[in-house]
Amino acid sequence: MPINSILPLMSLVIMCFLLSSTFWIQLHDEEKTIVISTDPPISTQHDDPSFTIPPKMFDTITDENGNVREYVKEDYYINYLEVQRTQHQEMLTNLIELADEIVANNNVYSVTLKKKKDLPPSKDPHDYMSLSRYFWPNPDKPNGLPYVRIDGIENPEINTIQDYTLMRNLFKEIGNLGAAYFFTNNDTYVEKAIYRIDEWFINEKTRMNPNLNYAGFRRGDKIGRRTGVLDIRPVFKMLQSIPLMRSSPKWDFAVERNLRQWFSEYYFWLKTSPIGQKAKTEGKNNHGTHYDAQITFILSFLGRDEEARAYSKQALMNRINIGILPTGQQPYETKRMLSWHYSIFNIQALFLLAERADHYGFKESWNYVGKDGQTLQKSVDYILSYALKDGEGWPFQNIGDFEINDFVKVLELSYVIWGDRKYLKALSSLRPKAKLEQIQKGLVFEDNYLCVWSLMTNRLLWSCIE
Ligand SMILES: *[C@@H]1O[C@H](CO)[C@@H](O)[C@H](O)[C@H]1NC(C)=O
Repeated sequence: MPINSILPLMSLVIMCFLLSSTFWIQLHDEEKTIVISTDPPISTQHDDPSFTIPPKMFDTITDENGNVREYVKEDYYINYLEVQRTQHQEMLTNLIELADEIVANNNVYSVTLKKKKDLPPSKDPHDYMSLSRYFWPNPDKPNGLPYVRIDGIENPEINTIQDYTLMRNLFKEIGNLGAAYFFTNNDTYVEKAIYRIDEWFINEKTRMNPNLNYAGFRRGDKIGRRTGVLDIRPVFKMLQSIPLMRSSPKWDFAVERNLRQWFSEYYFWLKTSPIGQKAKTEGKNNHGTHYDAQITFILSFLGRDEEARAYSKQALMNRINIGILPTGQQPYETKRMLSWHYSIFNIQALFLLAERADHYGFKESWNYVGKDGQTLQKSVDYILSYALKDGEGWPFQNIGDFEINDFVKVLELSYVIWGDRKYLKALSSLRPKAKLEQIQKGLVFEDNYLCVWSLMTNRLLWSCIE
């Protein structure tokens, strides 16, 4: 064996020795007062021989007074530290790269860019307009109007009007700028966020009117649909990031005041317009849950904390009571053509609501039990049992596939929240599947690090929900 291949091998052997527990136990043994016991295997809540938590994760150390304390074993700790460091630095590098791209993008974001033919019936270019996702020309009418619904089959015509994409990008980008500023203190990110907020909501030339009268529009109608209220769903990304930016000298409080004014008017529209009222009362499925999440985040942003507190608690209890069966099935989602997708989508909204209710001091938030024994956790477990079988036996129509990526994120959060090891066990097989699935779709699998980290440190779900 040539010398240059022996050297790395030897250092590897030495490294292994240093990291091995025998080395550390010997080290401890020299200090006579400290006793290390061989700790018993950590019991798993699910006796499955294919999954055991490695037994020697902890050292039990007894001090002179007989007090017993548990420490993570050195090799586990070192491993943890290394993973933590790598993940953190990767997350930061990605976030900064993303934020720099957002800063460099000088395209105009405005609802007023619509072509004349795409103006809503109001003819006001400042009115937001989007087409309803599952509506198609009526084959029985010469002009195809009004369009008819085919659930689960998306009409690509929706992409001809870009208001939807621009608004979604706006929320995501301001969310990322806020997080990037939080980690770097680079004021450029705040400047860009202010610029975008001004452009979309305030500037007389480019602003959007504070309503969704023509969202989810069906061709042939005079006004939009209640389902269009879902378009503004990711607004929480922007609203959560604003407090992170207020400490910057570049944060513009006059712009924020105007933004508050915009959201007061929009909130009034949500509460009083026919579409807003329908969204609340008729949306028994994910539309309604996302509506409630939206209301809560807007109330928080407006500083109406007492209302946000009461609303988030009430809405969470209500959604669990009406949207989840004692088995964990979500009947309003499982009747959809994309029943798998929407079941997960509604859980994401329930998590948002639970986080808000928790934030506002509702102690039972994550563990609230509905009047027939329904819980949020049961809805996760219901899907989990099928996810472990690649969707096999899912007893509902489902024209989509059994995508696992978003659910893997839900499972990670579930472990953080409920601490049940069955989620770890599931993740050990489902995470690799999610990675493969994303690669096959030409997408990047993203570690959920920032999301989990933010939930554990400040109990916010910054980047957890797409
Ligand atoms: C802050 O971000 C800007 C825009 O991406 C970048 O050009 C600049 O170098 C950054 N400043 C620092 C100090 O990193």
